[in-house]
Amino acid sequence: MAPAPFNEQNVQAQKERYAAAGQGQVHAFYDSLSDAEKEALYLQLEGFNPKEINEITERALKPAQAEEKPPTVEPLPESATASILDSKQEDIDRWYELGLKLISENKVAVVLMAAALGKSLFQIQAERILKAQELAQKKHSPKEKVTIPWYVMTSGPTRQNTEKFFNGESLGDILPDETEEDRQKRGSYFGMDKEDVMIFEQGVLPCISNEGKIMLEGKGKVAVAPDGNGGLYKALYQAPIKSKFGADAATVLKDMKARGVEHIHAYCVDNCLVKVADPVFIGFSAEKSVSLATKVVRKRNATESVGLILSKNGKPDVVEYSEIDSATAEAKDAKQPDVLKFRAANIVNHYYSFAYLNGMDKWMAKLPHHIARKKIPCVDTESGNAVKPEKPNGIKLEQFVFDNFNMLELNDFACLEVKREEEFSPLKNGTDAKDDNMITSKNDILAQGQRWAQAAGAVVKNEGLEVSPLTSYAGEGLEKYNGQEISAAAI
Ligand code: UD1
Repeated sequence: MAPAPFNEQNVQAQKERYAAAGQGQVHAFYDSLSDAEKEALYLQLEGFNPKEINEITERALKPAQAEEKPPTVEPLPESATASILDSKQEDIDRWYELGLKLISENKVAVVLMAAALGKSLFQIQAERILKAQELAQKKHSPKEKVTIPWYVMTSGPTRQNTEKFFNGESLGDILPDETEEDRQKRGSYFGMDKEDVMIFEQGVLPCISNEGKIMLEGKGKVAVAPDGNGGLYKALYQAPIKSKFGADAATVLKDMKARGVEHIHAYCVDNCLVKVADPVFIGFSAEKSVSLATKVVRKRNATESVGLILSKNGKPDVVEYSEIDSATAEAKDAKQPDVLKFRAANIVNHYYSFAYLNGMDKWMAKLPHHIARKKIPCVDTESGNAVKPEKPNGIKLEQFVFDNFNMLELNDFACLEVKREEEFSPLKNGTDAKDDNMITSKNDILAQGQRWAQAAGAVVKNEGLEVSPLTSYAGEGLEKYNGQEISAAAI
């Protein structure tokens, strides 16, 4: 909804609203601002409801009520899970075929959570989408072109650069060594149709001081932070996008509806092995006819710092590693004594039915907020002095994308275990860390390519092989290399 226009009367009403909520300090310097600054602050503040901000802060800060009984945690029941590691090939083939069929009917869309910018990651993901479209087109040869729309969610800080990236504009210091050819490639959306790649922006929430007050970054500006990857839901529902269907379809959900999308794959930008629009996962989830499904990999060992997907008090849930005791973390599976009982590591890779997302007004408001205590540069609202804190002076409020799991019944939720080496290699750290950095990402791609080529009967001369997603989506289509030596670094 457009904010009420900037005029004296509306400013007065806004001041009263904030003062009534005990947040009048946000206007402390209002009278000293220029007209343009006044308008900017007014508009920024119109984006929030101070009473609601107080409520979510209070709820997030309230220490978790000691539960009467400790929760019962169990691995998900077998009825809700399957594993690529031990599924019958015929099941996997059936899911793959169903997924390709749905893609060929233009019923599949992809949502990317990209609060970070990843040059080669965007390219790999775009090319996987192109390949999935091509495989579906070849298999089912529909009359219309096959399209998997790609909705890219950015946060405030990454919006501009992501747009520049896809528009082929210079990114200066971010990509200093880029060639003209690379720039043109990204400018042409790596061969995707521009109208099928839509960028939208997640929301922000004000930063809150330790005293519960909305903080100012400058005298005319509220300090804000992205609302967490769970901000995805609100953004799908209300963030504006440029839709090829015009103003009537100018949000992601409306655009999806106009396209007839029924199945959605959502994932995070930082995983270089992500199988974007994976037909197996789409087919698996569609066949089970669930609202939501998630992929997991096997936890490396009892101490790996990953969230676990499990059943908590009879509902699907994610429990962070810090929340379970070591006996539970180390417990073994009764049927497979060398495997952990709780091993389903969360990789933030989800399937949603469109019907479920489109009905989010039923559950969106119930998503909790989490707090992260941070050092937040701000202006002291009494003295007007700039503050550069040395220890955390406030909180950021964030939603988590999996916090809706426990609002689903177990029979409306499914979990697919996949091979880590084929599907998960996140980029989380700098190269000084041992795991999950740029070097491990690259090596995992090269090792995968080598495995694929060798499985197709090729002899790979180098250590590792880069297989372009345009050559193969998941190892298929490499038969022509059977019996050949590959000495190139990439095919
Ligand atoms: C996340 C999971 C964790 C899982 C791990 C696996 C959450 C809260 N935790 O941890 O259970 O085991 O991944 O890799 O999801 N993002 C946004 N907007 C935001 C914040 C994040 O789009 O405001 C996206 C980022 O692009 C990032 C992803 O969400 O790729 C993950 O979020 P992050 O906060 O980095 O969580 P992790 O600690 O990686």
